[in-house]
Amino acid sequence: MSIPFITAPEAADFVKNGDNVGLSGFTASGTPKVVTTAIADKATAEHAKGNPFKINLFTGASTNDYTDGALARADALNFRTPYQSCPDLRKSMNSGRTHYADAHLSELAQKLRYGFFGKINVCIIEAQDVTEDGEIVLGTGVGNVPTFAMMAEKIIIELNSTIHPKIRGLHDVYMPLDPPYRREIPVYKPSDRIGSEVLKVDPKKIVGIVRTDNPGHVAPFSPLDETTMQIGANVCHFLASELKAGRLPKEFLPLQSGVGNVANAVLSGLAADATIPAFTMYTEVVQDSVLKLMEQGKCTFASTCSLSLSDDGLHEFFGNIDFFRDKVLIRPGEISNNPEIVRRLGIISMNTALEADIFGNVNSTHVLGTKMMNGIGGSGDFTRNAYVSIFSCPSITKGGLISNIVPMVSHLDHSEHSVAVLITDQGIADLRGKDPLQRAETIIENCAHPSYRPLLRDYLKLAKGGHTPHTLKSAFAFHQAFIESGNMADAKF
Ligand code: COA
Repeated sequence: MSIPFITAPEAADFVKNGDNVGLSGFTASGTPKVVTTAIADKATAEHAKGNPFKINLFTGASTNDYTDGALARADALNFRTPYQSCPDLRKSMNSGRTHYADAHLSELAQKLRYGFFGKINVCIIEAQDVTEDGEIVLGTGVGNVPTFAMMAEKIIIELNSTIHPKIRGLHDVYMPLDPPYRREIPVYKPSDRIGSEVLKVDPKKIVGIVRTDNPGHVAPFSPLDETTMQIGANVCHFLASELKAGRLPKEFLPLQSGVGNVANAVLSGLAADATIPAFTMYTEVVQDSVLKLMEQGKCTFASTCSLSLSDDGLHEFFGNIDFFRDKVLIRPGEISNNPEIVRRLGIISMNTALEADIFGNVNSTHVLGTKMMNGIGGSGDFTRNAYVSIFSCPSITKGGLISNIVPMVSHLDHSEHSVAVLITDQGIADLRGKDPLQRAETIIENCAHPSYRPLLRDYLKLAKGGHTPHTLKSAFAFHQAFIESGNMADAKF
């Protein structure tokens, strides 16, 4: 091999202060580990010498602690996009040390190609294999790496010996043309393969290969609690009744499900419901619960951007690869989350809200309107274009000190126009075809916690005029009360 093997610190030396760096992967899956840690170490060393060192980091979605965690702790991130879920980076963003541009995941690759963010100086790719002529077998997550690699001046390969060699053949790498030449993306059902098994890069740009045997780690989920299980049961009930009413085709439609415990509860609920036929998924993340659904014959195929499996899940997947091989495709984020495809396939989207207001607007990102939690992720890609878009959240949080249903959301991610159904542990608010006042009554009576319903009814009685009644001076009384006394129930209008 004429491409040199180098150490992680040697690789980090190719990264300069102010560089735009793009990483392969989506969640912890497929994301580099040792080169990013070495960049963080380099930043610490440069800072100790009194030199500035910060990079601008572009990824597919959230990463791992070797990346966002290490770089944030080293104060090495000037700019970050499109999504994160790391406590240390969250602190850095919310204190202004890192500039964070929260963005729809499907859009970043094309925005980079359009030139909105300048060039990519360095692309770091976790790979299972790489050839002399630049053919790369990727890891368990793709993200935006095709675009990063195409644009990058330099490419560093992190060759990870822990990635199972049988991963080859699971990827479907495809990049659309840009306007005015773009054509339809030819995915007509989730299992349609449209691209290549390998990522092809210009081998002349590869400056080195770093070998590692760091397996990384995806934490298993915490056990489901009563609230989560009730939300899951309500979502299943809604889908089963839609099917019965003929508002969903009898073949059912592909599911997108966000990450986390509610998504897992919904998926296990669907598996248990004999009235729901076997279904496919068109989604961005495949978690352990999907493997079980496939083994039960309930999920027949999943198109995804990453296999975010726990260690046990990975073991199970590659142990039975002959069974799973024709049931999964791992694609770039701009394909897994593509609005054109989501609209064409008629996706049922299921995502999570931090809070929703009585008119059906959803905040998924900002605690009390100011502190960034994670980001919008792929939720907007799917929600805005879904056949039916579902949002769920608990009716109360922190033992009832917070009502997740409020008079007005303190930050807006998904507007009333995109939210078809809101579901909490209390019940289901079907918002389709309702005007604002009808939506408010349905959400208060069906979704709000009983202890907050009187306050919300009082607010609606006070709210004045127009198409969407509000009393602006009291619209944030719930949030104000929480800031002042630590309890939204102390709200005064
Ligand atoms: N106000 C203040 N804090 C709130 C809150 C509210 N309305 N609702 C929840 N919280 C707090 C919780 O108490 C918890 O705090 P803790 O970490 O101190 O325990 C934290 O926020 C997370 O809440 P939790 O109920 O555990 O939520 P989750 O893990 O299901 O995540 C989102 C919920 C909204 C943060 C998460 O789904 C997300 O980031 N979504 C946006 C991206 C997305 O949808 N991705 C998938 C697209 S495919």
